[in-house]
Amino acid sequence: MARLRIKEILNTTPQNQAIEVKGWVRSFRNNQFIAINDGSTNNNLQVVVELGLLEEATLKRITASASVKVNGTLIESMGKGQKVEVKATSLEILGDSDPEKYPLQLRNKPSLEYLREIAHLRFRTNTFGAVFRVRHTLAYAIHKFFNEKGFLYIHTPIITSSDAEGAGEMFRVTSLDMMNPPKNESGNIDYTQDFFGKSTNLTVSGQLEGELAAMAFSDIYTFGPTFRAENSNTARHLAEFWMIEPEMAFYDLNDNMDLAEEMMQYVIRYAMEHNLEDIEFLSNRLVDEEKQKPQNERSEMTLMEKLKFCLENKFERITYTQAIDILRESNHNKKKKFQYLVDKWGVDLQSEHERYLVEKHFKKPVILTNYPKEIKSFYMRQNDDGKTVAAMDILFPGIGEIVGGSQREERLELLENRMKEIGIPAEELSWYLDTRRFGTCQHAGFGLGFERLVLFVTGMTNIRDVIPFPRTPNNCEF
Ligand code: 4AD
Ligand code: MG
Repeated sequence: MARLRIKEILNTTPQNQAIEVKGWVRSFRNNQFIAINDGSTNNNLQVVVELGLLEEATLKRITASASVKVNGTLIESMGKGQKVEVKATSLEILGDSDPEKYPLQLRNKPSLEYLREIAHLRFRTNTFGAVFRVRHTLAYAIHKFFNEKGFLYIHTPIITSSDAEGAGEMFRVTSLDMMNPPKNESGNIDYTQDFFGKSTNLTVSGQLEGELAAMAFSDIYTFGPTFRAENSNTARHLAEFWMIEPEMAFYDLNDNMDLAEEMMQYVIRYAMEHNLEDIEFLSNRLVDEEKQKPQNERSEMTLMEKLKFCLENKFERITYTQAIDILRESNHNKKKKFQYLVDKWGVDLQSEHERYLVEKHFKKPVILTNYPKEIKSFYMRQNDDGKTVAAMDILFPGIGEIVGGSQREERLELLENRMKEIGIPAEELSWYLDTRRFGTCQHAGFGLGFERLVLFVTGMTNIRDVIPFPRTPNNCEF
């Protein structure tokens, strides 16, 4: 007999039909009612075992997280809380779970911090069940969005010899014996003897290779893992995260912003339509969590309201210069409530500033454009003022920067000059510069941090709780 997933069973009209289900026990009451979950939904299936059906020894083995196979008939439920239930005709324990040892059984309401330590088991909780189903749906929605728009999905390399962001935050990849590395004449490690015959690292971004593809296919995107050896131990940074990077020929900065806004709204709407139960669960979870906080620190909106709000409002678009003026003149700045005071044009914005603009000032997502060139990457298109570049960052409530992108510098000479100014050797990126030599054109793109999107849509507050096995400084378990 074919096993049915619980989500499907719960939506089936009960007609005493025979069914088979497999899953893990969530609870067992009165030696009679078993709640079974198989991860297809947070809703458990109630299985009723009539007195006398099972031997005492089997009943004892129906413990939290034991895996079971149940055959029975699907009937209308008399009890509250569910429409259907299964009247068991047989039950087999597939795998035992010792309740004296099962970590999730040992604590009542385990904290998110504790669950991070047992991330191999946290998939089995309602919170993480909901989070990872939403994560899946968002990933699917992204592919769907770009596919519908005619974009090509390009796989860019994970091991590379270039630093796409020029920020030097890379993990080295080597097969040399680092206890006893070969040295060259000047006494430095001789990477010509390394696996690839040169120095290599894990990619920080697929953008540069993405640009190469966009110069042939017009519209492409990447969606893959990226790695940053930045020592940021915050609730929004990971050393290994997933990034979506579309790159479009013939787009300017405005086209780029339009696409990013459309994409964000599309994927949020898709998740709300296809994971409503999970998002409602997470929304209620957040309300409960916030009850512990003082009134003035609680969110003004529930998660559901925040998501709807993002769909119903155009993102505010302002320049970096306007943002600096707003921040400098804000009471927050005057009363020295920022950790980093905003005093002059040219400073990089901290997450507290981004969140002030979004959460306090505009109260909606904001796109900041035209940043000072000194605080942005070498490839961004230089504006005529000689001071700024055609960059755009999208800032979201509770998150800060969620998307970073720009129109690219398509003029060979200006790009070469900028690289020289910052000390990026042209020889290393000659393949990249070739796109500017052969049929260069206006183009633009952006990067969406996938985990930051999942954070936003699930209402979780720590990025370590939206990726199955987070990698952060001093932490690489599993
Ligand atoms: O702003 P970033 O560094 O931009 C780029 O990498 C460009 N090459 C993108 C492009 O134009 N194609 O990173 C893009 C986004 C950020 O806005 C943020 O959402 C996310 O990636 N991000 C991180 N997410 C988690 N942990 C980190 N350490 C992150 N660093 C960046
Ligand atoms: Mg950025």
